[in-house]
Amino acid sequence: MPMMRRARVSDHRTLVECVQRWCGDSRTPAEACEPSVLLPRVFLRFFASTSLVAEDSTGVKAFLVGFHSADHDEDAYIHFVGVDPALRGRGLACGLYTAFFERAAEAGRREVRAVTTPDDAGAIAFHQAMGFSLEPGDDEADGLPVHRDYDGPGQDRVCFRKRIEAQ
Ligand SMILES: CC(C)(COP(=O)(O)OP(=O)(O)OC[C@H]1O[C@@H](n2cnc3c(N)ncnc32)[C@H](O)[C@@H]1OP(=O)(O)O)[C@@H](O)C(=O)NCCC(=O)NCCS
Repeated sequence: MPMMRRARVSDHRTLVECVQRWCGDSRTPAEACEPSVLLPRVFLRFFASTSLVAEDSTGVKAFLVGFHSADHDEDAYIHFVGVDPALRGRGLACGLYTAFFERAAEAGRREVRAVTTPDDAGAIAFHQAMGFSLEPGDDEADGLPVHRDYDGPGQDRVCFRKRIEAQ
């Protein structure tokens, strides 16, 4: 089983390469080809200490990029999680989320938020399995509350939130 550790700025290149290798099957081709848009260095440069990497002797197997909000004292946010397709369904992402929840709660955070695209059924099911609820949107698609143009024109998103317990 891979060991979990805090991310480091120096992980950036490896994590981008992981996104290129792993996410081609679950994201649109444009997004899969452009991991620098999904995972610019800024996330590791400023939020490595709240991000997590799971690795074994052969390399990185999963990671989570997240941070504690600078504007909202009670909020934390998970920007991205990725798991090697060969190791999916074994609880790796659950382990990363659980560790992130624990650390966020220890730091006084009470709510974790995340967003994904309405067509990413796997990510939606995963977040629901992790206990997130869907925030009411301004529209609906396939029975899901959708926030139209959330990330810009045509960039609709589904938004999640989960309360976490004080430690
Ligand atoms: C989504 C993803 C992170 C899940 O990782 P994983 O390690 O396979 O997930 P886990 O094994 O920890 O699963 C945890 C729970 O989520 C559920 N789940 C995970 N992926 C699922 C899927 N594609 N469809 C339905 N349920 C799913 C599992 O059944 C499990 O539920 P349970 O606890 O009730 O058994 C992984 O498939 C991935 O890396 N996808 C590509 C990147 C991505 O979509 N990221 C999310 C957007 S930021």
